[in-house]
Amino acid sequence: MVSYITFFTGAGVSAESGIPTFRGSEGLWRKYNPMDLATPEAFQKNPKLVWEFYDDRRQNIARAKPNKAHLLMADIEKKFPNVAVITQNVDGLHQRAGSENVIELHGNIWKVRCIRCGKEEYNYEAPLKELPPSCKYCGGMLRPGVVWFGESLPFNELNRAFEIAERSNFFIVVGTSCQVYPAAQLPFVAKQKGSKVIEINPEYTPVSDIADISIRKKATEGMEEVFKILINS
Ligand code: APR
Repeated sequence: MVSYITFFTGAGVSAESGIPTFRGSEGLWRKYNPMDLATPEAFQKNPKLVWEFYDDRRQNIARAKPNKAHLLMADIEKKFPNVAVITQNVDGLHQRAGSENVIELHGNIWKVRCIRCGKEEYNYEAPLKELPPSCKYCGGMLRPGVVWFGESLPFNELNRAFEIAERSNFFIVVGTSCQVYPAAQLPFVAKQKGSKVIEINPEYTPVSDIADISIRKKATEGMEEVFKILINS
């Protein structure tokens, strides 16, 4: 029986739920320039435009359902003692699938944070009534509770993610291009500390070079294979 199993996920795990990735041929950053939509400067310049982008994504995510890959990860958490999901996704689908030990490195699209009083809370309204929305406590402007380019990742989450990567026995990387740091460092840290690294991705990524097993399949099919590997380990 293996002891520490970690899933490290990116946009590819939610692709089969109908949520677009960022960098593939159909990716969001092919259509839009992230510098206009996902930076503090962009928000300062045009908060309404930024909010329109996030409001559209919130509506799409509200319609989406967790897929078999999310569900298998949640099931594995019930069957094995120490399972964590470290995700770069902001869609909350891991939690909706039933995963409990989820570390969100890039925030959550359902969170809003006041740029005046700093209060942060969940807001599931989609579409939002007012763009940009305002804080119900102080009237200040709200921003999406996600991490933008040029911003630091949440300190506690990042620390926990590195701790978990260091003690993992199985580090399973699912649906991330592994191009955005510091998150992209995690598989390399895990490998260096002796973990087995398994990658599920239809395409080559930098992790493919160090992976013990590369499963060149979509997340749902790949997770079925991983499930068998873990059960038989
Ligand atoms: N199953 C598994 N992997 C898939 C699937 C699928 N069905 N479809 C696409 N992929 C893979 C792609 O081959 C690609 O390697 O998912 C990866 C998605 O990569 P990105 O779009 O770069 O997403 P991600 O790695 O999560 O991006 C990291 O970048 O813009 C930021 O903050 C954003 O959290 C995001 C970060």
